[in-house]
Amino acid sequence: MARIAVLPGDGVGPEIVRETVKVLRRIGALFGIPLTFDEEIVGGAAIDRCGTPLPPETLSLCRASEAILFGAVGGPQWDSLPVDRRPERGLLALRKELGLYANLRPVKLFAPLVDASPLKREIIEGVDLLVLRELTGGLYFGEPKGIGPAPDGKGEQGIDTLSYTTFEIERIARIGFQIAAQRRKRLTSVDKVNVLASSQLWRRVVAETAREFPDIELDHMLVDNCSMQLIRDPRRFDVILTENTFGDILSDEAAMLAGSIGMLPSASLGDGPGLYEPIHGSAPDIAGQDTANPLATILSAAMLLRHSLRHESAAAAVEAAVGLVLEAGYRTPDIRQPGPTTLIGTAHMGDLVVERLSNTAIH
Ligand code: IPM
Ligand code: MG
Repeated sequence: MARIAVLPGDGVGPEIVRETVKVLRRIGALFGIPLTFDEEIVGGAAIDRCGTPLPPETLSLCRASEAILFGAVGGPQWDSLPVDRRPERGLLALRKELGLYANLRPVKLFAPLVDASPLKREIIEGVDLLVLRELTGGLYFGEPKGIGPAPDGKGEQGIDTLSYTTFEIERIARIGFQIAAQRRKRLTSVDKVNVLASSQLWRRVVAETAREFPDIELDHMLVDNCSMQLIRDPRRFDVILTENTFGDILSDEAAMLAGSIGMLPSASLGDGPGLYEPIHGSAPDIAGQDTANPLATILSAAMLLRHSLRHESAAAAVEAAVGLVLEAGYRTPDIRQPGPTTLIGTAHMGDLVVERLSNTAIH
């Protein structure tokens, strides 16, 4: 029995997670995968109920589960809280506590969405890359961190520290090479070696780790150049390996290659249970309106089936069902495009994926 911890969170989180659980229940039935679902609170919802974004019960449920399905956290009502007490802290603490250092963000353009992106068809057609973001180091967690008195006695000083150790770089680099080996065998390591000490170590350690993987073609790229190349010639990329903050920014940028940030799933992996979440946020402005795109979360569930449950055929069936629904012209508002398409809501999109699954999965 595979136990799935379900953490809907805030904003559109509950709606998109609801549709995804529907999909997982159906896939479990179709493929004979016994799944159980246990729901807990996280983020702003948890702050409101018990004063902390990651209650101990939520963390222990996650530890006791095979995988975690996560919605989104945050919203304007918690914006005035200090950073260390905001809803986002719940997600960051979960990543850190569970040692989820490897964040996989595949960016694959579904062919029917080629005209949904604001970018030209000639540039993005066939895009298929993966951003591998280091998730438990860098500016997000480095010490010292915080706001204190400014050394010049005038006002305050805010500090974040960008730090990486050999160990941290080596383990994420290894994952990068292993992923590249399963794909087109190209790894681009992204850094800011011309300015940052942590990048100098990063580049050196990645280059040394590359010796274990002679079949993989490695190149290094500066992050500012990478952000340009992603728009200029995105098909040149296979796996992009990068540190935490660069990966956060580059993956939002890369999302537009796939039509909408509402299409991008992610898997966060470490040595214990994996966490699966859309890369987008809680979108409080459209929460509760049945307009959010649930596909990023549904595709995250496909990654859950692939990476945590090792059920490749079930994962592929979910992805195929999503493809069929898009091919049939159904669109949530974020992927709306000119031409003969049908505008639908969150729940309808979930239902259609379930329906296509039932029609195709067994064959
Ligand atoms: C992401 C998000 C998070 C991050 C936020 C919600 C803390 O932007 O997963 O990309 O910065 O990592
Ligand atoms: Mg982000």
